[in-house]
Amino acid sequence: MWRAPRRDSAITQCWKQPLYIDHADGSHVWDADGKEYIDYHTCAGAGLYGHNHPRIREAIGRAMDKGFFMNFDTAYHVELGKLLREVFPSCERVRLANTGSEATQAAIRVSRSFTGRDKVLKFEGHFHGMHENIWFNHNGVGKADEYGEVETAADSEGFPQNAKDSVVNVVFNNIDALEHAVQKYKGEIACVILEPISFNCGCYEARKQYLEQVRELCTREKIILIFDEVVCGLRMRPGSAQKYYGVTPDMTTMAKAIGGGLPIAAFGGRADIMNCLNPIGKTTVSGTYTGSYMPVIAAIECIKMAMEPGFYDQIEKIGNKLYRGIDDLFAKHGKKGHCRGVGARFAIYFGVENTEDDFDFRKVAAELDRSMYKKFVTECLPRGLWFHDTAGPVSPAHYGITIAHTEKDIDETLTRMDDIFKTF
Ligand SMILES: Cc1ncc(COP(=O)(O)O)c(C=O)c1O
Repeated sequence: MWRAPRRDSAITQCWKQPLYIDHADGSHVWDADGKEYIDYHTCAGAGLYGHNHPRIREAIGRAMDKGFFMNFDTAYHVELGKLLREVFPSCERVRLANTGSEATQAAIRVSRSFTGRDKVLKFEGHFHGMHENIWFNHNGVGKADEYGEVETAADSEGFPQNAKDSVVNVVFNNIDALEHAVQKYKGEIACVILEPISFNCGCYEARKQYLEQVRELCTREKIILIFDEVVCGLRMRPGSAQKYYGVTPDMTTMAKAIGGGLPIAAFGGRADIMNCLNPIGKTTVSGTYTGSYMPVIAAIECIKMAMEPGFYDQIEKIGNKLYRGIDDLFAKHGKKGHCRGVGARFAIYFGVENTEDDFDFRKVAAELDRSMYKKFVTECLPRGLWFHDTAGPVSPAHYGITIAHTEKDIDETLTRMDDIFKTF
């Protein structure tokens, strides 16, 4: 039998072979050998509703009955646009895309077109997709100057040398650092892009006052402010980070939970900015699979579910029980570390004290106990817990719960984790 090449991951270390999943249902997945796991990977965040949700299945079935086609607009595309606008109030106009990377690439292109400027300002640790416009300084701590500007460093080989020339990186949650960079590159910055809650740094929230200051600064300097809500969108009450913080960006990118596991993404924003796009303007974004019928129908069902009363009650009840339970385990076993969660996604910071004042990407990078982290993930597998090990060298991975997770799942998880903490 053919086996994929081995990787140095917790899975291969534990099972001596890659993990293949056979099927999934609700909050559980089963591997090819029939072993069952409680799933905290949740499709890298796409799975807010659990696997195999009957309403999403039914929606896909309806799309199949109509003939699965793409590249035609339907009344459902209009309905989806309206729903997205309701959840993400910044989106007076919306365009669909297939992946979060496409959405951020398009939003950056539109902001360049609107402002006539080239540079993109991003924040250290934040991730916005894998393209050459933006994949910098997610996976490492860069060299910072005294003002908090960080030397731009690509996260992959194969980028053209000059790709980094149009990216400015600064440390997050520090308005002076941002102000300094904006003055240094005055008139050159097209957009500031950020994750309002950076789940790509584990679970690192923007401070509300900071976001308000960023908003003011961008308005003053005529810079397009983009909230990348690819992960945080729909994750917490009342649905988007822009509503959660009460700060409205100029543009928003969305993906993952809006499609519940089907490939769909979107970007949107103020009408005057989005009017740069053709056929009104001269900026082009398009794709063969964009607006495929089946993901569109599924996304409508997903967003309707998230907007129903009680949806976030369940998320918060289950989430709080798990996050508090993990903190209790650190205390009970006398280990340094904590859990941080907002709504349906969370991260476990092994080795990092739970402080508010100095909690940031650099502190985590310096203190994160990677060997404890690795051990935890490895010990989860034989105990039927699926915590993936994509933690970068500097930040923990983000995990998630879904509406399919039950109190029984959480109790089971905490009991099995207690057993793991005894091994530390
Ligand atoms: C915040 C954020 N933006 C953009 C992306 C890219 O999305 P995709 O993997 O769908 O291209 C991701 C992916 O994890 C993400 O977390």
